[in-house]
Amino acid sequence: MTELINVESPVKIGNSDRDCLEVHTTHSINLEFTSRCNLRCVYCSVSHPDYVGQDLTCIEDFHAFVKDLKARNVRHICINGTGETLILKDWRSYCQQLLEAGFSLTLISNFAREMDQEDYDTLARLTQINVSCDTVDLKVFRKLRRGGDFRMLVYNMARVRAAACANGNMMPRFGWTCVVNDQNILDLENYVATGISMGVTQFAFNNLSKISDLPHAESFNHVCEMPQERFYEALGALERALKLIKKFRVEICCESGFLDSINARVNMDQAKSEDVTTQTQVKELAQWKVATSVGIAYSVSPKSGQTRDCLDPWNYAIVRADGNVSPCCQREPVGSLASGQSINDILNNFSIKRLRQNLLSGDLDEGCRFCVSRPLTDCGTLQDKVRRHLA
Ligand SMILES: C[S@@+](CC[C@H](N)C(=O)[O-])C[C@H]1O[C@@H](n2cnc3c(N)ncnc32)[C@H](O)[C@@H]1O
Ligand code: SF4
Repeated sequence: MTELINVESPVKIGNSDRDCLEVHTTHSINLEFTSRCNLRCVYCSVSHPDYVGQDLTCIEDFHAFVKDLKARNVRHICINGTGETLILKDWRSYCQQLLEAGFSLTLISNFAREMDQEDYDTLARLTQINVSCDTVDLKVFRKLRRGGDFRMLVYNMARVRAAACANGNMMPRFGWTCVVNDQNILDLENYVATGISMGVTQFAFNNLSKISDLPHAESFNHVCEMPQERFYEALGALERALKLIKKFRVEICCESGFLDSINARVNMDQAKSEDVTTQTQVKELAQWKVATSVGIAYSVSPKSGQTRDCLDPWNYAIVRADGNVSPCCQREPVGSLASGQSINDILNNFSIKRLRQNLLSGDLDEGCRFCVSRPLTDCGTLQDKVRRHLA
């Protein structure tokens, strides 16, 4: 990379004339209507005794905000955050305004609440609904997703599909998101089979970030913490679940940190059993267990010349219920709507331009170095990707 980059002056990469740090469109936005929740899942920050949630009150004129999103050419909005959208009184009115403005909407929800017909009718108009479901075992479900019940989730899914049928809507696509851990992984094949039987067409296996000071934090663990024999039993279960997913041609999305950490554990076990564990391997192991802003997670650190394979700061943003705007779910906010700035101003301010620059050059700060979501790549590959994205 030759022409890098001074955020105060216009920036070009390669032969492109485009300023690749200033971006005026955002493909998708994650919008948090509330950070309050009706459940207390064992791994979630909501379960921290000091946690306080809040509703989206800083956007006084929601209609004007919707116009700003249209002006930025946002196509897709995912309604999600740390909290449960469906407990907010105004969730339907917000969704209806977004639907009428022509956005395609995805919702991530626990589906734990008892709903009424108007709720089902609104949900039936969404493009995709990702229901957080860690297991189909009733007892384990209650233990992990405290306050929730798998049977209510199943009932709500059926009623949304029924509303779509009755109203002549296209059926929303249903996904299930699973935070894989030592309590649910052994039953993963059964989990996938149950989901497929209920019309789930996309599974996501999340990499557990463990917040160690949560009450009950001792009752579950990352799969990489499992004792040797159980760990390989768990890998067998994961393999069978993935085979079933392939057989039924449904989609699977695994967070890269999840797969990277499993591979790293297997490599380390192999090296140990051959008694060739070197200082380098021990160091590598220490590196993939990292403290992130949300807790202890697993990730592989970049080597020189590497960066994260991530376009998020160019095509994605998170708007929190308190007005904070972040470039991805791993990082601190780059600005706040509560300060009176527009989303367009925030998504082209100094902080986000510096982040874009650092990703392109591989000069990563801690947030990106220890990212548990995006895999590693070399800087040239990311630069090409950004160029193609902006073309
Ligand atoms: C924070 S929740 C918010 C939406 C909604 N309340 C729900 O549970 O679907 C969004 C997703 O993050 C996942 N999640 C929460 N805490 C996590 C953690 N510590 N590690 C990995 N995923 C987590 C949840 O399981 C859920 O699928
Ligand atoms: S339902 Fe979602 S936001 Fe609520 S505690 Fe569980 S994971 Fe967290």
